[in-house]
Amino acid sequence: VYLGIDIGTSGTKTLAIRESGEILASATVEYPLYSPQPGWSEQDPDDWWEASATSVRMVLDKGGITPEEVKGIGLSGQMHGSVFLNGEGNVIRHALLWNDQRTARECEEIESRAGGREALIGMVANPALTGFTAPKILWLRNNEPQNYEQVRQILLPKDYVRYRLTGEFASEVSDASGTLLLDVKARNWSGELLSKLEIDPDLLPKVYESEEVSGTLTASAAEKLGLPTGVPVVGGGGDQAASAIGNGIVSRGTISATMGTSGVVFAHSDEVQIDAGGRIHTFCHAVRDKWHVMGCVLSAGGSFQWYRNQFAQSEVAVAAAMGVDPYELLTSQAAKAPAGSEGLFFLPYLTGERTPHAAPNARGSWVGMSLRHSRPHFARSVMEGATFAMRDCLELIKEMDIPVEQIRVSGGGARSQFWRQLQADIYGQEVVTINAEEGPAYGVALLAAAGTGAYSDVVEACNATISVVTETKSCETAKATYNRAYPIYRQLYQSLKADF
Ligand code: XUL
Repeated sequence: VYLGIDIGTSGTKTLAIRESGEILASATVEYPLYSPQPGWSEQDPDDWWEASATSVRMVLDKGGITPEEVKGIGLSGQMHGSVFLNGEGNVIRHALLWNDQRTARECEEIESRAGGREALIGMVANPALTGFTAPKILWLRNNEPQNYEQVRQILLPKDYVRYRLTGEFASEVSDASGTLLLDVKARNWSGELLSKLEIDPDLLPKVYESEEVSGTLTASAAEKLGLPTGVPVVGGGGDQAASAIGNGIVSRGTISATMGTSGVVFAHSDEVQIDAGGRIHTFCHAVRDKWHVMGCVLSAGGSFQWYRNQFAQSEVAVAAAMGVDPYELLTSQAAKAPAGSEGLFFLPYLTGERTPHAAPNARGSWVGMSLRHSRPHFARSVMEGATFAMRDCLELIKEMDIPVEQIRVSGGGARSQFWRQLQADIYGQEVVTINAEEGPAYGVALLAAAGTGAYSDVVEACNATISVVTETKSCETAKATYNRAYPIYRQLYQSLKADF
C-alpha cells in the first residue's frame, strides 16, 4: 500500500492505493485561509501538519489498512508558498500562498537585480510572477526585517510536512521550479540568481528528483500517524506535476487539459523548452530528467460556477426540486444555443489572467449581445469562453513545437459529454478521459510506488495503472465555426486591455 498526501489550499487529501493502482480509501481534512489585508493570502503550516496526520489516520481506518502494509509515502501540495523557519525549526509567521498578490514591487526588484526580464528567464526559465516564492522572500526582507533576521530555512508547503514527517530539509525538482530560484535546466538552485538577490543558499533545502527517497518517518511522526517508524517518503511533486503523473502525462505528445476552478494545460517535454516571452511556465517534471510546460487559466470552471451562482438561481432551484445536478441542467440549457453562441463572446478573466496575458488587472466581459440572445446563449458563451482560454494555452504549446497527439481532459469540464464535445470542437481534435480521476494525491502515491521499488520508474507505474476510458471526436462543422470565432475571441482582449 502507498499513500499520497496532497496539501491543497482548501484542505489536505490523503489517498491509499495498491501497487496495481487500485484505490483503497481517501480522506480530506479542511483548514482556514487567512486574508489579513486585501490581496494577501496566508495559511498556518501547523494546520497542514495536523490535517496530514489526521487524514492519514482516517485513510488507514477507512481502508482497513494495517500500518505494516504501508510501504511508501508521496507528498504533493499547493506550489509557490513560503514557510519561514527559525533556527529551532519553528514557523516564524504564517506562510504566504501561491495566490497572494502583495509582491508586485518585489517582482520588479528581482527583474532589475537579475539584469532584466530576459536575463532572469535565462537563469530560471521563467519571469517573476507575484505568486512565486522568491518575491515572497524579498517581501519579508523588505517589510518584516525582524522576522527575516530569524529565518534559517525556507520551505514549500509540502516540504514543511516532509520536515515534520522525516526531520529532513528537502524538496524536489518540480515544486522547486516554482520558487523562481531553481536553474530549471540544471535541476538545482541557481547560484547566480541567489547571489544577485543576496539570498543565502543555506536557507534552501536539498533538491531531489521526484521519485527519490528523501527521508524516512521519525519515531514521533510515526506515532502521530499510526504508522511504523522508517517508512520511506519520496520527493513527490508540486500539485500540477503530481496531477500530470496521475493523468499519465509522461511522454512527448500526451497533453492534459484540466478544468477545475482554474484550468491547466500541461505538456511533457524531453528537453527544456522556454517561451522567450515568458507567457507559459517551464518547470522540471516529476519524471526523472524530463521537463514540462504549463499554461494556467485562472477562472475556467470558476467562470461557469460564477455564472451558476449569479445568474442561474432559478435553474438551481429547479434542479434541486428535480433532484439533478444544477450543472447538468445548465449544460442541457447551453446545448440549445448553436456553436459560437450566435456571436456572443465571453472573456473569462474574472480574476485577471495568468496565461497568456500575465495580467492581474484583466476582467471578464460579454461582448456582442443582441436581442436574439437568450439564457442558453449566455450559458454556452461562458463555457466557450473558458474553453477558448484553454485553447490559448494549447496554441502556445504548439508554437513551441511540442506535438499535441492526445489530449486527456479531466476536472469539472470533463464530466459532461457536452463540455467534452465542446472541448474537442474548440481544440479541433479528439479528447479522451482516463480511468483515474484522483488528481495529485494519486500521482504522488504512484511516485512512492516507483521510488520504493514496486516499479522500475514512474513511467512504468503510469503505464501499468492508467488507461483511456472515453474518446470524443471533434465535429467538423462545429470545429469550422470555432476556427472562425477563435481569432475574434483573441482580438477582443487586445481591443479591451487598455480599458481594464
Ligand atoms: C501552479 C499554481 C497552483 C497552485 C495551487 O502554478 O499556482 O496550481 O499550485 O494549486
